[in-house]
Amino acid sequence: MCVELFSLRDKVALVTGAGKGLGKSMALALAESGAHVAVVSRTLSDVEATASEIRENGVNSVPLVADVTREEDVTRMVERVLCELKTIDILVNNAGAYAFGHCLEFSLHDWQRMLETNLTSTYLCSKIAGKHMVEKQKGKIINISSALGAFGAGGSAAYCASKGGVIQLTKALAVEWAKYHVTVNSIAPYSMETEMTKTMLHDEKIKQAILSKIPLKRIGKPSDLSGVVVFLASKASDYITGQVIFVDGGFSVQ
Ligand SMILES: NC(=O)c1ccc[n+]([C@@H]2O[C@H](COP(=O)([O-])OP(=O)(O)OC[C@H]3O[C@@H](n4cnc5c(N)ncnc54)[C@H](OP(=O)(O)O)[C@@H]3O)[C@@H](O)[C@H]2O)c1
Repeated sequence: MCVELFSLRDKVALVTGAGKGLGKSMALALAESGAHVAVVSRTLSDVEATASEIRENGVNSVPLVADVTREEDVTRMVERVLCELKTIDILVNNAGAYAFGHCLEFSLHDWQRMLETNLTSTYLCSKIAGKHMVEKQKGKIINISSALGAFGAGGSAAYCASKGGVIQLTKALAVEWAKYHVTVNSIAPYSMETEMTKTMLHDEKIKQAILSKIPLKRIGKPSDLSGVVVFLASKASDYITGQVIFVDGGFSVQ
């Protein structure tokens, strides 16, 4: 009974930014739980590699190239998934980027780029894939925000603002779409080992400073998100919406 609650058998998921890092790891976790998974990034070779690993689980996978900041790309992406996999039950808005920069030196162009990549992309994918979910009166949207969307950090104003926006978008859509049985939740990681954080974590001083803020005393691994994403994508979380789950080794409770 309990295992069935977490099963994603015959469900269809769409994961953005699934060419590497957290997105790839979450796409594989959904596939291991039985979902067919469409995987998206701007780099074909990366999503093809993710798709072929996913297929090893005996499920279908469609690799797609799209820039999720562009409305026409997102529309085409959703149409392709609906054409090839027939539906979208689960959307994971994971594509994102980080750029360090103190506010006084951060250009308007870079600020806008950060908001487009992290926040506008989440709005666009939620709106265009969400339309299909609203029509069929069922769906699960999972937005990858960040602990820095709820806490401040020097040199990260644009990133913090963009991820704070993702958290608020999550709550607003959760309220708006509850009547259609579409749940919208967010996962907020802190520091995880991926290409995004490679340079930072390579610097021993920065790494120790980060570790000093994490009660569990280790940097997160992409697989630390597996259980949470499957939970939020499955029936087990049907009565949960508008929530932010911090996967941060305890960073946010100190
Ligand atoms: N790593 C961390 O410590 C951490 C902590 C908190 C939150 N997060 C969030 O978790 C998410 C994943 O982070 P990560 O560390 O796995 O990053 P990553 O290793 O840099 O991977 C990001 C993925 O997103 C894709 N992507 C970026 N911009 C895109 C766009 N415009 N359109 C389509 N795909 C795009 C990238 O592929 P292409 O460049 O080939 O398109 C790549 O596949 C991000 O939203 C990040 O902000 C990460």
